[in-house]
Amino acid sequence: MVSERDTVLHSWCVPAQWQAPTIVGGRGAHFWDADGHDYLDMSSLSECSNLGHQHPAVVKAICEQAERSCFVTSAWGAEPRAELAKVLLEKAGFERGRVFFTLAGADANEHAVKFARLTRGLKQGWVITRDRSYHGTTYACMALSGDARTSHQIDPEQFAVTHVPPPYAYRCPFGSSSEMDCGRLAVDAVTGEIDRKGAQSVAAVLMEPNAGTNGIVAPDNYWPGLREVTRSRDVCLIADEVMSAFGRCGEWFAWQRYGEAGKPDLMTLAKGLTGAHLPLGAVVMNENVARRLETQMLFTGLTYCGHPLACAAGLAAVRAYENEKLIERSRRLGGEMFLELKRLQQKHRLIGDVRGGQGLFAIVELVSDQTSRAALAPWPQTPPQLTTLVRKARGLGVSFAVRGNLIILAPPLVIEESELSGALALLDRLLSEMEAA
Ligand SMILES: Cc1ncc(COP(=O)(O)O)c(C=O)c1O
Repeated sequence: MVSERDTVLHSWCVPAQWQAPTIVGGRGAHFWDADGHDYLDMSSLSECSNLGHQHPAVVKAICEQAERSCFVTSAWGAEPRAELAKVLLEKAGFERGRVFFTLAGADANEHAVKFARLTRGLKQGWVITRDRSYHGTTYACMALSGDARTSHQIDPEQFAVTHVPPPYAYRCPFGSSSEMDCGRLAVDAVTGEIDRKGAQSVAAVLMEPNAGTNGIVAPDNYWPGLREVTRSRDVCLIADEVMSAFGRCGEWFAWQRYGEAGKPDLMTLAKGLTGAHLPLGAVVMNENVARRLETQMLFTGLTYCGHPLACAAGLAAVRAYENEKLIERSRRLGGEMFLELKRLQQKHRLIGDVRGGQGLFAIVELVSDQTSRAALAPWPQTPPQLTTLVRKARGLGVSFAVRGNLIILAPPLVIEESELSGALALLDRLLSEMEAA
């Protein structure tokens, strides 16, 4: 078999150190490599294979669309694009809104910012995002992200982006000791930043509404608080739902947990939109934003925006979430997973915090001391013991994702209950071994 080891420049690694098995197939929550090793996927790869691997209905829809018509540009109509836009607006409750299709999450976020600035008539309008956030790695998205891994590559001010502290209740940047206080103070920080810059020069607040892969899970009062503040100051609220949508946080879109009180002006989607069967992103906007944009010339777009094959995959994915009741399933199994992780927290001195659990998404934060909350390794480094845990688990057929001191649990929503409990039992065992070492 041809190896990519010496020819491909891989992302998020030191390429010369890259060494990984070649994946040749998958089904449900499993994928397998060329040597016949099977892996239970506890992270939906990059928190994107929400429907599991090779979902038959999505694969079929892609094949059927490929037979019919592979590609048309946005200068022409495409049936699956029209249908997918309609169904996304319905699911979001954005009557008379519009959808702009992109290729993935980063360009969805860039376009959302572009649209917010156009809507507000502010070419260089400020965008407020937060520390410890992740919005992608194009240049503008590195500026939007508050990510220690990429922040040295850009100057956010040059992109008219300003960051505020996150609602990280376990290590509250405002020194509070309660979740709700931390959420309230984090909202106050956004309010303060809008007022300091002057609301008339701020285009948007762009944030993850509930959970993010950088390990923050916002307290319940945070997102509704942001909605209130942005509405009162006529600033666009953009929900980055790239990771949190399509059941990951127990709703179609994570903001829906708060009902109308959490409804953003724009939201960005990718990952679960096709369950990662094909690359696709979207900016979904409400009626107000759509009305401002639809009468002006939009000098923007990428060749493959709204690719019919990807839209056919998206449409089939949405139907699969619906037909298989996967959003509800994620909420139920996510609750059970959370309780089990809380039980593990009682048992293991290495577990400092467990958060999430509204759907099949949870963060386990490891510490060297539960009382002082001392980190195992300085953020964003991954402690060697955790790298060992991942290697051992992989050797036993379970693939876990980690970032820094965090274990990110985000299995496909189709995972069997016995598979989930088996993986958590393995985690329990490996944590015991880590503590004994
Ligand atoms: C919250 C969030 N926003 C944006 C992105 C970037 O998406 P993409 O990698 O598809 O460009 C990601 C990817 O992990 C994400 O988790």
